[in-house]
Amino acid sequence: MELTIKQQLEKLEHKPTISRSKAETLHLAQELLKKMTLAEKIGQMFQLAPPEANVEGLKWEHGEENSSAKLICEGKVGSVLSVTDSETIFKLQKLAIEQSRLGIPLFFAADMIHGCRTGFPINLAMACSFDPDLIERSCRQIAYEVAHTGLNLTFSPMVDLVRDPRWGRVMESNGEDSYLNSQLAAAYVRGYQQGDYSSAYSVAACCKHFVAYGAAEGGREYNTVDMSERELRQHYLPGYKACADAGVASFMTSFNIYDGIPATANKFILRDILRNEWQYDGFVISDYTSSYEMIDHKTARDAREVALQSIVAGLDHEMVSMTYLQHLEELVISGEIKESLIDEAVIHMLQFKYQIGLFDDPYKHLYADREQYMRLPETLALAKEAALKSVVMLKNNNQTLPLVKNKQKIALIGPLADSNQVVGAWGSLARNEECISLLSGMKSLVGGENIVYAKGCDILGNNREDFAQAIAIAKSADIIILALGEDQSMSGEAKSRAYLNIPGVQNELAQALKALNKPLVTIVFSGRPLELGWYAENSDAILQAWFLGNENGNALASILFGDSNPSGKLAMSFPYTVGQVPVYYNQYNTGRPSTNGEYSEYRSCYIDVPNYPLYPFGYGLSYSKFEYKELLIDKKTFAALQQLTVSVEICNTSAVSGEEVVQLYIKCKNFSVVRPNRELKRFKRVMIPANCSKIIEFTIDKSDLAYYNAEMKSIPENRDYMIYVGSDSNADLSAEFSYLS
Ligand code: NOJ
Repeated sequence: MELTIKQQLEKLEHKPTISRSKAETLHLAQELLKKMTLAEKIGQMFQLAPPEANVEGLKWEHGEENSSAKLICEGKVGSVLSVTDSETIFKLQKLAIEQSRLGIPLFFAADMIHGCRTGFPINLAMACSFDPDLIERSCRQIAYEVAHTGLNLTFSPMVDLVRDPRWGRVMESNGEDSYLNSQLAAAYVRGYQQGDYSSAYSVAACCKHFVAYGAAEGGREYNTVDMSERELRQHYLPGYKACADAGVASFMTSFNIYDGIPATANKFILRDILRNEWQYDGFVISDYTSSYEMIDHKTARDAREVALQSIVAGLDHEMVSMTYLQHLEELVISGEIKESLIDEAVIHMLQFKYQIGLFDDPYKHLYADREQYMRLPETLALAKEAALKSVVMLKNNNQTLPLVKNKQKIALIGPLADSNQVVGAWGSLARNEECISLLSGMKSLVGGENIVYAKGCDILGNNREDFAQAIAIAKSADIIILALGEDQSMSGEAKSRAYLNIPGVQNELAQALKALNKPLVTIVFSGRPLELGWYAENSDAILQAWFLGNENGNALASILFGDSNPSGKLAMSFPYTVGQVPVYYNQYNTGRPSTNGEYSEYRSCYIDVPNYPLYPFGYGLSYSKFEYKELLIDKKTFAALQQLTVSVEICNTSAVSGEEVVQLYIKCKNFSVVRPNRELKRFKRVMIPANCSKIIEFTIDKSDLAYYNAEMKSIPENRDYMIYVGSDSNADLSAEFSYLS
C-alpha cells in the first residue's frame, strides 16, 4: 500500500548537505546546464505562485492544462512562492525530483520577515533597538524555525530607506537613516544565513526591494520614484550594498521605476550597479508580477517585450508573471536575444540550488512534526528581549512611569488594551491568538486586583457607546493607561494612508479621559509614526509600542512596572503633522535656512508648524538619567591613513541601571555639494549601572567623511567638520576637527 504524504514525511531521512565554494557550484551548474534543453533552462527562471494566485492578465489557468503539477513535471518551474505547509512542499518537491526529466530540485520561498511561528516585533520596532547583535540573534532563531518548515529562502530583509510614514511599508523597514539601515541590514543577512546557508539551520535571505521603493511619491504605494543619482547612491543604496557585502543569496527588484525605467528591467540598476560595480553573484528575482506590470507602466507593449527588456537588464527569476515561460524561447529562436543571456541567469539559479544544498538533499528543511521546533523557550525569550528593546518611551513627566506595583489603582482603557491583534503585518506563521495582550501581561506580572479594564471604543468607526463605562472606571482609579493606535491591518503592503492621525473616536476618548485630571499614560500601537501632538501635550507619559508580536503584553508590563528599563530610540522621526512629511533628521542645508527651524519670513519654513519633527530620529527616554560630559577627540586634524578617536563620558546620575544608545553624528561645514545638516556615523548600545559613569570610545576614519561629490565620486574632501555625540539626533555636545588628506 502506498504511504500517505504524512507517512513519507515521517520516514524522511535527511542527507548531509555539503558546504561548497562558489567556484565549485559554478562548475557543477555549468555541467548541468550542458544537459538542459532551452525550455528546461527557462523553467528554472520561473517562480510559481500557489494556484489561488489568480492574477489578472497572466492567463493563469487552474485546469489540467496549466496546473502547477503539470508545469513542475515538465521542468517549467524553478521555485515556489508562499506555500508554507510541509506536506504540500514535500509533494511538489517530489514531483520535481521524480517526474521532471532532470530532477532538478525546486526551492521554496516565502515572506518570514519578522518571525516565523514566533512573532517578533515588526521590523521598524526592532530597528528602534539600534542593536545589530539583537537583530542577528533574532534572525538566527527565526531561521531555525523557517528551516524546519520546508522553506529555503525568506524574502527578508527589506532595506528600503523610508522618510514618509504615509507609506504602509515603513513597518518593514529599518527607518530613515542609511547608516543604521546598513548596519541592521547586514545583521539580518548574517543571522539568517549564518555565513553558509547550506547548513541545516540557516536559510537564504533576499535583499529587497531593489531599488529605492521606500521613496514612492506621496507615500502612495507602488507610486513613482524619482530622485537624483547622488541621492540614490548616498542615502538609498548603502542598505542594499551592505546586504550584498554580507553575501545575501538574492536580490528582489521593486515595483517602482528608477529614472523613468521600471526597476525590474533597469539595466543601470541591475547590471551597472549590482553586477558590475558591486560584483554581486547571487540571483535576482522580480517582485510579484512586477515584470508584467511594465505593460501598465507603458514601457512595454506586451508580455513579449517585457521578457525581452527584463532578460537584457539582468533579471534571473520571474515571480508569478509568466513572460519568460511564454516568450524567451521564441526570442532566442528569432535571434533577438542570445541563449547566453539565458545561460547566465540559469547559472545563477542553479548555483544557488547547489549552494543551499538542495541537490544533496532536496527535502532539506522538511520535518513531519515541525511544531516541536517552533516557539521554543529560547525563541520566545529572544522575542521578549526584542520587544523590550523596541519600545520607545517618548515622554515621562514627573516619573509617572514606572508604575508602583500593587499600590496604584490602574484603569486600563482602550481598544488595544486587551487585544492580541499585535503580530503586525507580514505575520507569516505567527498567530494573533498566541500574542499576549497588554492586560494579560499586566495581570500575570502583578495580578488583577488593582487593574480595572474597559475597552472604551473600537479602533475604527464612530461608536461612542462605551465611553461612559471607560470614564466611570477611570474615575475610580489613581492612574489611567490608555492603549490606542492603529489596527495592525493599517500598515504593511498596500496600506498607504493620507492621514497620520489616531483613527476613529480614540482621540475623543482620550480627551474625555484627560478631563478627569488624573495621571494619563498613553501607549501607542502602530506600524508607522503617527501624529501625537495632542498626546505630547496632554499625556504624562507615552510609550510607542508598535506591534510587538507574541511577547507584547509581557514586555509592555515589564516596562510599565519598572522590571525593565525602556531603551528604544526612534529609527524614524515623528512629525507634528502629515503636512511636514517628509520630515527626517538629515535634511539638506538650504540657501535660506530658518533660525532653529522656526518661522521667519522669506526663510525655508512653514507659517504654521516648525521644520523639525515632534520627536526626532534617535530619540527615546529611559528611567535612568544619562548625562554626557567631556567629549574629547585625539587630534584636531587627521589625514588619510589616520583615525580619529572620539571619547565621551556618560554618567548615569539616577538610581536605575539602564542601557543607552550613544550616537555620534558628523557635520561637514562645507563641501562641493550640499550635504545633510548632520549624518549618523556610529552608535553603541551600552549598559551603565546606576550612579556610575562610563567612557565610550569611537573611532572614525576617512570613509566616514566621504560623500558623493560633484563628479559622483565618494570622497572625503579636505574640510572642517563638527562631531556631535549624544542621546539623539539633536545631540549638542560637540567638537571640531579638520581633515587633510
Ligand atoms: C510583494 C511584496 O512587495 C514583496 O515584498 C514580497 O516579498 C512578495 N510580494 C512575495 O510575497
